[in-house]
Amino acid sequence: MTTQQKKINAAQLVIKKIKPGMSLGLGTGSTANEFIHILGKDRDLVKSLKFTSSSNQTIETARIYSIKCLELDEFDYLDITIDGADEIDKNGDMIKGGGGALLREKMLANISKEYFIIIDESKSVKTLGNFPLPIEIIPFSPKSTISQIDKVFKKHQMVLQIEIRVDSTGSNFITDGGNFIIDCYCKKIFQSKEINAEIEKIPSVITTGLFLNMSSSVIIGYDQYATEFKFDR
Ligand code: A5P
Repeated sequence: MTTQQKKINAAQLVIKKIKPGMSLGLGTGSTANEFIHILGKDRDLVKSLKFTSSSNQTIETARIYSIKCLELDEFDYLDITIDGADEIDKNGDMIKGGGGALLREKMLANISKEYFIIIDESKSVKTLGNFPLPIEIIPFSPKSTISQIDKVFKKHQMVLQIEIRVDSTGSNFITDGGNFIIDCYCKKIFQSKEINAEIEKIPSVITTGLFLNMSSSVIIGYDQYATEFKFDR
């Protein structure tokens, strides 16, 4: 069975959460796209929903099914946001931002009544950190920002490699919001709450890819089925 089928299994289960008339946040990435591919075929349901998107890439996928994504400004809240993750632990804490959409994903999550994460089983981990932690920073003087972030990690006895993300042409990767991403090769993050708070205090840091205490539940796709695990929030 392929990883794609596991993502489809998770997406098929989460679709049952969507009720006519809801406002919906669309996440970014290959798993969130599988959800859009399934939802897009239910024309009656799609017509009854209102959408907003976490990235330009997702807007393009939604367009295939004539799903129009409104500006986030149009919503006081979202009923549900469906998104993927790069890593998630047993408490529902996550690393996100592998696709570079972390800021808008966090903005959607922040105003969502329910935040459903859909993943294939490979994303479920005991300890966060093997996936490089993305941090979105302003493009001005990135070396200075990196040095301040490095100091936070060192304070927590973490010595690690930090790289500015580049695109396929070797230029600095630019987010939809016009910012840079740095990737922090942590291996294991034990004090995620403290580290996150200290990094987010640095003025040139926009946000980190640590999504802590945000997910309502995770739906894990396996070969033949998917299972939901709910979190107390
Ligand atoms: C996008 O920036 C990320 O946060 C994605 O949610 C994450 O990378 C998951 O993507 P896949 O579903 O493609 O693994």
